[in-house]
Amino acid sequence: MTEMRPVTDQATDATPVKTLALPDAQTVTFVKHWTDRLFSFRVTRPASLRFRSGEFVMIGLMGDPDPKTGKQKPLLRAYSIASPSWDEELEFYSIKVQDGPLTSKLQHIAVGDEIILRPKPVGTLVHDALLPGKRIWFFATGTGFAPFASLLREPQTYEDYDEVIITHTCRQVGELTYGAELIESLKTDEMLNELIGEGFWKKIKYYPTTTREESPKMGRITDLMRSGEAFADLGVPQINPADDRAMVCGNLAFNLEIKDMLEGYGLVEGANSNPQHYVVEKAFLD
Ligand code: A2P
Repeated sequence: MTEMRPVTDQATDATPVKTLALPDAQTVTFVKHWTDRLFSFRVTRPASLRFRSGEFVMIGLMGDPDPKTGKQKPLLRAYSIASPSWDEELEFYSIKVQDGPLTSKLQHIAVGDEIILRPKPVGTLVHDALLPGKRIWFFATGTGFAPFASLLREPQTYEDYDEVIITHTCRQVGELTYGAELIESLKTDEMLNELIGEGFWKKIKYYPTTTREESPKMGRITDLMRSGEAFADLGVPQINPADDRAMVCGNLAFNLEIKDMLEGYGLVEGANSNPQHYVVEKAFLD
């Protein structure tokens, strides 16, 4: 890309049709703040953008002008697309880091604003990277829920598996709300029930846990699995390579620990080019 005009370069009131000021610009259509640290938003989808549910793209804003040259460069970060591949718009779920280069600004976006979106989706949390199985586990911490917000609305998830288990570990109860509401809304979403299959959501077992605030289920999912408590609560046997497939998205320490545990259960890491039993992607933080 060559010269880009700043994202704040808005059309004036006199302009009848708003022209997009940036290459790869998309317009914000919805913003919701879930906690003082978390928000989600939706943007228009480029007509040419095709992606597989679970993939990520680079998104961002123009950075501050260089003090010497006055030039601005795009400030981009990898974000999992939280909406499914069939959705007309794109959804993202983000942390707000007060001194984060991007999210300190991104948290202030409003409907009608523009963001930059590079239309080159990639990622390993895709069904293509897994062998057929009976049960799929989605393991998330914090904003690592985002790719699963996409995959939980993806028809293939329910075509491929008899059971869909989503675990989400957060520090505070409020950090579970985006995921909890999304899962609850699947039950009554007429379009999803029609598109995916009536009652598809009955395959889902949702297992939210908190670590630093009281909630019905406390503890890290890793510890709850090690003790056997999670399997007992969910009414499923311990993970095994014959039946279980897994996708993991959370902070780095979590990813490494779960990866170790899955290997211990006999699962093998897969990739797009070599489908196996589980795949891992880190949550992209500012
Ligand atoms: P904890 O509060 O015990 O650190 P963060 O906000 O730091 O990304 O963490 C999100 C959630 O992931 C927290 O509930 C945190 O628990 C949990 N977590 C952090 N590291 C691990 C790990 N290695 N295994 C399991 N859960 C973890």
